[in-house]
Amino acid sequence: MKPRIAIDGPAGAGKSTVAREVARRLGLAYLDTGAMYRAITLAGLRQNADLHNTAALEELTRNSELDIQSAPNGNIIYLNGENVTEDIRLPEVSRNVSYVARCPEVRDILVGKQREMGNRGGVVMDGRDIGTTVMPDAEYKFFLTASLEERARRLAELHAKGETLALEQMVKEIAARDKIDSERECAPLRPAEDAIHLDSTALTKEEVIESIVNRVSGK
Ligand code: DC
Repeated sequence: MKPRIAIDGPAGAGKSTVAREVARRLGLAYLDTGAMYRAITLAGLRQNADLHNTAALEELTRNSELDIQSAPNGNIIYLNGENVTEDIRLPEVSRNVSYVARCPEVRDILVGKQREMGNRGGVVMDGRDIGTTVMPDAEYKFFLTASLEERARRLAELHAKGETLALEQMVKEIAARDKIDSERECAPLRPAEDAIHLDSTALTKEEVIESIVNRVSGK
């Protein structure tokens, strides 16, 4: 069976770009699990749902049809038939997604879908709990980090197209998300015991990608 690769880490560590490119070079499928939590958050914001209400979130998740397709630039996300690939990156979604992702009922449903894909093998998945919960038996696990300032800088650049965010503001927002993601009870952000740690603060994306590809292909 082709390998399963888990790439976890905090926001802005570069997981998505790295995971997508690793998948491409190794001929594996790619799943951006954060996009799934983002799509549910977008659905909630659009419906004015109470994102702090567990029952409302569970209903929202059950009633949202998510379809994730692979494309050369990453995943294309459909929510109830609509392509929301761009909308799920809006700052408003980023600010609220941690509240949705801490809800165990939401996680149960989304993790179920992620495991279905994991069980088929030959996949690179990125998220927060892939190595610990979604694919604890993955052949390769990586935990990708970078300093808070560097992560804020990268995400501020990414958002520059939509809403310009001051770096200071971005540091605050990421620190708040990290705190909720790490301190939640259900599947918090943490490295699996057998994960390989990679600090990308002083590395280029290419160096991180090569480091992972080389380990997996036994170079
Ligand atoms: O990686 P990202 O920024 O797109 O993730 C969005 C949010 O979803 C983030 O707050 C953490 C959460 N998330 C999660 O809890 N578990 C995952 N496997 C992936 C993302």
